[in-house]
Amino acid sequence: MSVHDLRNRRINYDSSTLDDGRAADPFELFADWMDEATDAQDAGKLFEAAAMTLATAHPTADGTWQPRNRVVLLKGWDTAGFMFFTNYDSAKGRDLDENARASLHFHWPELHRQVRIDGTVRRTSASVSEEYFAMRPRGSQVAAWASRQSSPIRSREELEGRVAEAERRFEGKEVPCPPNWGGLVVVPQEIEFWQGRTSRLHDRIVFTTVDRGWEVTRLCP
Ligand SMILES: Cc1cc2nc3c(=O)[nH]c(=O)nc-3n(C[C@H](O)[C@H](O)[C@H](O)COP(=O)(O)O)c2cc1C
Repeated sequence: MSVHDLRNRRINYDSSTLDDGRAADPFELFADWMDEATDAQDAGKLFEAAAMTLATAHPTADGTWQPRNRVVLLKGWDTAGFMFFTNYDSAKGRDLDENARASLHFHWPELHRQVRIDGTVRRTSASVSEEYFAMRPRGSQVAAWASRQSSPIRSREELEGRVAEAERRFEGKEVPCPPNWGGLVVVPQEIEFWQGRTSRLHDRIVFTTVDRGWEVTRLCP
């Protein structure tokens, strides 16, 4: 046993069910669950409905693959995929250049739910990136130019110096979308919906792409 013992901390999952009849189309189900998550957010019961963990993997010197993850924000989805925005030269961007596969994960603990989305990744068109970049607050736009995301920097002061430099550069002008910044879309091949139930007998429904649509499978919890 470790020194930090959490073995007796547990909660019961009993707020909802995921019935087989409800699981016809993964995008409709995702829309329902995201609506419920954003409603809970609006009611102050959930922090950030659109926050999702993004896992990528990069090759290591010994020939194996090292996964790593971080949180990003879902900015839109349709049947073509799930979109977020980032710096293409970041660690995640470089991982995806090398291995265009990712896994997204939403955890809405207040609703006793998680959703996993595995698939391939493609960049959005430049116009989609530019359109969203133009909607961002100016401070975030300037930051996108100033921050070489995932690169080492000596100090906070140096980062703030780069921000001041970018502010001077774009003074009195619109801040354009940096060429290395934009959208990525995860095109799903598998989507799992998980609803917590009592006694750890959770509902798990997995949708897998097949030729003419989706195959639906219930998994043991
Ligand atoms: C709630 C939350 C939302 C975030 N949203 C984004 C996002 O949409 N895009 C992004 O590039 N980073 C976002 N970040 C920062 C990332 O988690 C991460 O630190 C950054 O993208 C660098 O990751 P990388 O070095 O693995 O590429 C967010 C972090 C948090 C906690």
